[in-house]
Amino acid sequence: MNTELEKYIQSTSSYFEEKFGGAPTMVAYAPGRINIIGEHTDYNLGLSMPAAINRWVIVLLRPRTDQKVSVFGQNYHAKMEYTLGQPFTPAESWEKYTYGCITIFGNQYPLKQGFEAVVWGNVPIGSGVSSSAAMEVAIMNALRVAYAPEMDDLTLVKMCQRVEHEYLKVNSGLLDQYASQFSREGKLMILDFNQLRSEYVDADMKDWAWLLADTKVKRELAGSKYSERVQETANALAEVKSKDASVQGFRDLTTEHLALISDPVQQQRIRHLVLENERVLKAAEALSQKNFEELGALLTASHQSLRDDYEVSCPELDFLVDTALQLPYCAGSRMMGGGFGGCTISLVRKDAVHKFNNFLTDEYAREYDIVTEINNYQLVDGAGGYKI
Ligand code: GLA
Repeated sequence: MNTELEKYIQSTSSYFEEKFGGAPTMVAYAPGRINIIGEHTDYNLGLSMPAAINRWVIVLLRPRTDQKVSVFGQNYHAKMEYTLGQPFTPAESWEKYTYGCITIFGNQYPLKQGFEAVVWGNVPIGSGVSSSAAMEVAIMNALRVAYAPEMDDLTLVKMCQRVEHEYLKVNSGLLDQYASQFSREGKLMILDFNQLRSEYVDADMKDWAWLLADTKVKRELAGSKYSERVQETANALAEVKSKDASVQGFRDLTTEHLALISDPVQQQRIRHLVLENERVLKAAEALSQKNFEELGALLTASHQSLRDDYEVSCPELDFLVDTALQLPYCAGSRMMGGGFGGCTISLVRKDAVHKFNNFLTDEYAREYDIVTEINNYQLVDGAGGYKI
């Protein structure tokens, strides 16, 4: 196991012992993720290229003999407590994720007794690297180890997605949860949401590095705009289907179908989707040929499409991308994740990483008076769990 992760499990165990007395009996962990390309494609059954990163949520658990559920959110210095079968309304968002997971899991695998747990994480929150999915996937893995070892990974990630839909009211796709569960160390995944299948490709970037720069912008509008996009593409697909019987689903759409969509905004959304899926395939090809300039150009084209056609960027993201692209040692850059804040991902020559960091940090501070944080994450294995 990753030694960094092992260290975090140990420190979280000490916290558990301090809070509950005695050691936990189950451990689970789930990483955050990056996404190289293929954005806002998951709920439209398209393609993406994610990988898990060395930032995790860890859950430690010990069953009780009564009906009480007691969970410490270590990062929040807070405890959530309720009795199974009694009404409970989670208030904070970490409580909604936790309660949502326990309830959705419990509907499938009824819990006869409660448990004690600690949830801890170091996945940056609001940066677009899926701290919420990591939390869901970690909790679900802990529950699986404790009560349903027979449950398969795909069922698990779909249950996590239901937490987003039913408890957070965001109709998100499966990108985050799938990447958190299924990733492999040192690999990128070509993920097909139509088939729900992934292929692993070598992520060796030779002289290049992926750098993430955080806008530190809170994504306040993100939830409602996200649901708006889900609705827009669904409406566009319905219209095309009603006019062309050969179209069964999103993946039958091509740019030729754009003319069948009466709303120009919905046309833009579908253009992004169709071309973004093509870019994922081209990026996979560029990666296999180690053609990093081409890969970078695809990233930049993805950003333009997300900014102009899908309209999920924001001035801070655009600024970081434009600033990165001024540098000759940056092959490409784009916003990453849901948008409206969060971070950018850029492909930068390894020997120029320091120069890149300094330039971006200075320019961003000058423009917005905000200190960006730039990270170069390791690609790690997906989620797991075990009995101690
Ligand atoms: C967020 C969602 C994902 C995905 C991305 C955009 O991270 O949670 O399901 O839609 O945005 O690609």
